[in-house]
Amino acid sequence: MPEAIVALGEGKRIVGRLRFETDGKCQHSQFEYAAEWLAAPDRFAISPALPLREGGHFAAGREDIRSTLSGVFADAAPDAWGRMLMTKALVGGLTEFDYLVLSDDRTRQGALRFLGEDMEPLSDLNPPIPRLVDLERLRLLAQRFERDPGGAEAEARDLAGVAGSLGGARPKANVEGDGHLWIAKFTSEKDTKPVERAEVATLKLATQCGLRVAEATLELRDSDHPIALIRRFDRRDGARIPYMSARTALDWQSDEGGYYTDIADVIRQVSAKPTEDLHELWRRIVFTILVSNKDDHLKNHGFVYAGEDRWRLSPAFDINPAPSRQRVLETGIIQGGPFDASLDIALDAAEFFELTLTDAKQQASEMAKIIAANWKQALRAEGASPDEIRIYADAFEHDEAEKALKAV
Ligand SMILES: Nc1ncnc2c1ncn2[C@@H]1O[C@H](COP(=O)(O)OP(=O)(O)OP(=O)(O)O)[C@@H](O)[C@H]1O
Ligand SMILES: [Mg+2]
Repeated sequence: MPEAIVALGEGKRIVGRLRFETDGKCQHSQFEYAAEWLAAPDRFAISPALPLREGGHFAAGREDIRSTLSGVFADAAPDAWGRMLMTKALVGGLTEFDYLVLSDDRTRQGALRFLGEDMEPLSDLNPPIPRLVDLERLRLLAQRFERDPGGAEAEARDLAGVAGSLGGARPKANVEGDGHLWIAKFTSEKDTKPVERAEVATLKLATQCGLRVAEATLELRDSDHPIALIRRFDRRDGARIPYMSARTALDWQSDEGGYYTDIADVIRQVSAKPTEDLHELWRRIVFTILVSNKDDHLKNHGFVYAGEDRWRLSPAFDINPAPSRQRVLETGIIQGGPFDASLDIALDAAEFFELTLTDAKQQASEMAKIIAANWKQALRAEGASPDEIRIYADAFEHDEAEKALKAV
């Protein structure tokens, strides 16, 4: 039965052991905390679904279903893009366990590591981490792979290691630069709009609105295939910071969207600064509505470990304005309620996020003013043409934005 020692951080603190079994149709995994971890003064549960106790925590699923691994392990394994590369590079037939432990250890999301009995990482896809000067080369590899995934074996091998465990569907890689680790998100072959220009512009707008946001900058700005560089918030001064997605924090198993009020409940339970995080999350909902972000699913929110068994809402990331579409969210605002991207529903929910209605209206209107005054310039600064800016108008100028402007 394949298994791995689960360890934490650069120092490889042993946390437990992950065992995996498959009978062809079904895959099971079992995680067990190590006695030394359960006895340690600085122990903590690596996710709410894995409370600190002796004995095995089980997860099971059909081969085509990701629930084989508990959420916090799934967060440390690649998603669509990384899995596609690994399948090609390692010639198919991979189990959920293989995707997890074979992806690159140095760039793995969060602080978990998967080691053999010799305490060395089990991953065997570990080429050198590329540097910023390699971006153009990486971009060409990603482009060739996207154009012809069937034929691009060498490209898949080169990229699989550097894409590492990063989740998400868009083409991306890890790069090192300025003493930090970054995610490089490439303009995709399939993009019909300047998605990465808009992503960087919108993350910067979010910063202007006072949100806590992952640092973002655009490379190859003057080409027609710019690259967004997003600084990794799960690395600090060379240390690895534990991470779990909101999906994991909620132990959410369904393919349906979750709810922001449920994330708020998790914040109340685990956050080192609950009131700040509740206000921040509410403002992110309003920002999402105002910029017509289409990507607010539960894996695009997360928590970073803050020490002493407490977590913080992670910086915001993966915010993408989507012009002219139905105004719906991927995460509903109020548990059991509609998924409408509606300012009124956000205001109705304000109290649940410990904001008075007066404060909430004030904040919504301030954000709306900042966005209205700056969105065009923000896109222009990232090299969007006047035509491209026009395409995005519907994302930033709409009824909900009008309502927010007039909220006070
Ligand atoms: N700045 C960051 N620091 C650490 N981890 C990050 C950061 N940004 C994103 N991630 C992680 O990487 C994953 C993929 O990144 P991102 O969501 O930006 O990619 P994507 O391909 O656009 O995703 P999607 O499939 O949701 O469109 C995220 O789900 C998150 O777990
Ligand atoms: Mg994402």
